[in-house]
Amino acid sequence: MPKGTIKMDNAPPPLIITAPQKSTKYKGVKHTILVMSGKGGVGKSTFSVNLAVTLASMGNKVGLIDADINGPDDPKLLGVSDMKLYADETGIRPVQTQYGVSVISMAFMLPDENTAVIWRGALRHKAVQQFLEDVVWKDMDYVIMDFPPGTGDEALTVAQLIPDVTDGVVVIVTPQELALLDAKKAINFAETLKLKVLGIVENMSGFICPHCGKEVPIFKKGGAEEVAKSNNLNFLGRIPLIPEIVSNSDAGIPAVTKDRNLAKIYEGIAAGLIKSLNASPSA
Ligand SMILES: Nc1ncnc2c1ncn2[C@@H]1O[C@H](COP(=O)(O)OP(=O)(O)O)[C@@H](O)[C@H]1O
Ligand SMILES: [Mg+2]
Repeated sequence: MPKGTIKMDNAPPPLIITAPQKSTKYKGVKHTILVMSGKGGVGKSTFSVNLAVTLASMGNKVGLIDADINGPDDPKLLGVSDMKLYADETGIRPVQTQYGVSVISMAFMLPDENTAVIWRGALRHKAVQQFLEDVVWKDMDYVIMDFPPGTGDEALTVAQLIPDVTDGVVVIVTPQELALLDAKKAINFAETLKLKVLGIVENMSGFICPHCGKEVPIFKKGGAEEVAKSNNLNFLGRIPLIPEIVSNSDAGIPAVTKDRNLAKIYEGIAAGLIKSLNASPSA
């Protein structure tokens, strides 16, 4: 056999897709919303945290599940990464934050921020199952779930658990052409797994120059709205690229608590999302 080629005598075995192991014990939450994207780094965690804080500021009881087991960032973004978990006979208590959001994350179980979680799918699945079933979420109006990045094994592991307990998905998109392609994959992923797409949000959409006040479309702008339109989905809004989001996030302060204009944008997105939820009662 010449070097560099692989000979296959037999066809590869057919793919075996086992029946998803769904969670049935997660109860008592009015609405569960997943935040996903076609790839990492588009602002899923930032969006999940600020949406949760916005919904809480509107008078709701809000929980946040950090389902990104390998990259658990939500406690840091809420300034509670030093907290430890506490359990009683009713279950594990999510960590309360000063923003009215209760959060659970793998980060609370690690000895420090630099420890990597090197787990195969089955263990990650178990962890997310515990986040749903063993944590006291009772009476929450909204639980936001910050998904692992992309549409690969990690996201699939989590998505298989939840079709029966979620209202649907918000897809976060950045406006570059490539990111839009990824967004289409995320929509496809959700639809294949029978997760309703509640809406699309364009993040890092344009940049207001602090010197001249003009808007600079760093990653272009408006592509997400086109993707929403062509797929007959709700476009929920546009979040500009704001440098303070990075500095606030790094300091553990959700940016909506500092920036009134940004808070208004999030309130608009939350209102659109609630409308979308009411238009499609959960199964
Ligand atoms: N609208 C925005 N403007 C500026 N920076 C942002 C914005 N949204 C997110 N970021 C920054 O982009 C980086 C990636 O965001 P993150 O929420 O961690 O993405 P993901 O969870 O999708 O991987 C972070 O440094 C975050 O502060
Ligand atoms: Mg993240």
